[in-house]
Amino acid sequence: MSDRLFIFDTTLRDGEQVPGCQLNTVEKIEVAKALEELGVDVIEAGFPVSSPGDFNSVVEISKAVTWPTICALTRAVENDIRVAADALKYAKRGRIHTGIGTSDYHIKYKFNSNRDEILERARACVAYAKRYVEDVQFYAEDAGRTDNEYLARVIQAVVDAGATVVNIPDTTGYCMPWEFGEKIKYLMENVNGIHKVTIATHCHNDLGMATANTVAGIVNGARQAEVTINGIGERAGNTSLEEVVMAFRSHKELGIDSNINATKIYGVSRLVSSLMNMPVQPNKAIVGRNAFAHSSGIHQDGVLKKRESYEIIDPKDVGVDENSIVLTARSGRAALKHRLHVLGVELDKEQLDKAYESFLKLADRKKEINDDDVLMLAGQHRSAKRRITLDFLQVTSGVGIQSVASVGIDIAGEKFEACSSGNGPVDAALSAIKQIIRRTTTVKEFLIQAINKGSNDIGKVHMTVEHDGNHYYGFSANTDIIAASAEAYIDAINKFVK
Ligand code: KIV
Ligand code: ZN
Repeated sequence: MSDRLFIFDTTLRDGEQVPGCQLNTVEKIEVAKALEELGVDVIEAGFPVSSPGDFNSVVEISKAVTWPTICALTRAVENDIRVAADALKYAKRGRIHTGIGTSDYHIKYKFNSNRDEILERARACVAYAKRYVEDVQFYAEDAGRTDNEYLARVIQAVVDAGATVVNIPDTTGYCMPWEFGEKIKYLMENVNGIHKVTIATHCHNDLGMATANTVAGIVNGARQAEVTINGIGERAGNTSLEEVVMAFRSHKELGIDSNINATKIYGVSRLVSSLMNMPVQPNKAIVGRNAFAHSSGIHQDGVLKKRESYEIIDPKDVGVDENSIVLTARSGRAALKHRLHVLGVELDKEQLDKAYESFLKLADRKKEINDDDVLMLAGQHRSAKRRITLDFLQVTSGVGIQSVASVGIDIAGEKFEACSSGNGPVDAALSAIKQIIRRTTTVKEFLIQAINKGSNDIGKVHMTVEHDGNHYYGFSANTDIIAASAEAYIDAINKFVK
């Protein structure tokens, strides 16, 4: 019998902090339900005091899911803790995650304080949270760079104050795997009563060590892994759920396993990627497009003779169905609905009708429609109604001529048209739109990505637009990248033109 590894998913808190990855409450509920089906033990649903949106998401996710514990983040501040407790009132199992920075960098520069004061604040925040909920998790922010002897004193104080889980984050992704493993071992050996609580790892990927550090921490005694789907998260991201789960499932000799239903991994990965507009890198372990692709002749020959010669995981075990039906213009609504269901997306009848209409248009332009296309189509029809939309766009461009664009825009039902030239087709299209909306804007970031490969592929455009000193993020996807650029610009301006 394996030792149980608890999976704490922070896609909706640490993952969602990434600029451009923000989800609305409906989308967060969709992800939370998919995480519940995946079998995660804890869902960190937000940081309630940070915004009314985060507060509301914790409330609604608490109502929507049944089995996982719902966790809310706070600082070591009494008001944060009260607000978190209030947000958790509908949770069947609620946990407050409170804590404070313990490295000398945090103590001296962030808090202008000293070790004794911080230790006391750590103890006090746990004791205060215990007034509201039984399950209190403490985090020692920047534990990765905190000296082990002091860290053990802080952890001793919070364990004595009643913490049920102690989280040891490598906040800056600084540690080496053996160093992080040693840290967990040190706590196991030097904190009285540590065996009665759960030690958690929370590793960031700045040096590409997040999974290795997490595994090292668990092998040395931690039993909760804090992870995100696809490893999303600030900077280089967090530890990815799929890597940790499959590392232990592939190494049975370690005798540690989670409750995750691995066949759901691929669907949840694609769902999160599409909702957050965050592509999965093709060579990403477990869920990347190429994770199970063998291109060299020697490897192909080996796999055909015996799969295990070059594959340590059967793709089907993580939900990658290589024989899945590719959708084409002849596929019916039921096939689209089924594929969406496999990918964890349920649309109502009206949304499905619209998605199917767009599907047929896309299938006319693109011979084969794959999972990423399907998720993109579903995403378009789930997103909120926009006040400003693109009616039409016509662009003339080429070598040796100036680009000219004419656009038609609908603003709350009123129609406007404009025409402009520009330095290239995107510039021409955007300056025609600017003539209509009459706001001073600057495009700060402009990124075009193909979803898959091939000249008929869909291009995704991410754009950051500055207006009045604020930054607004816009996104669109279209087989026509000029149209996608104009739509992404309009998506961004919808956020400030009222
Ligand atoms: O990285 C970190 O230290 C965190 C804590 C708030 C848990 O995200
Ligand atoms: Zn973090």
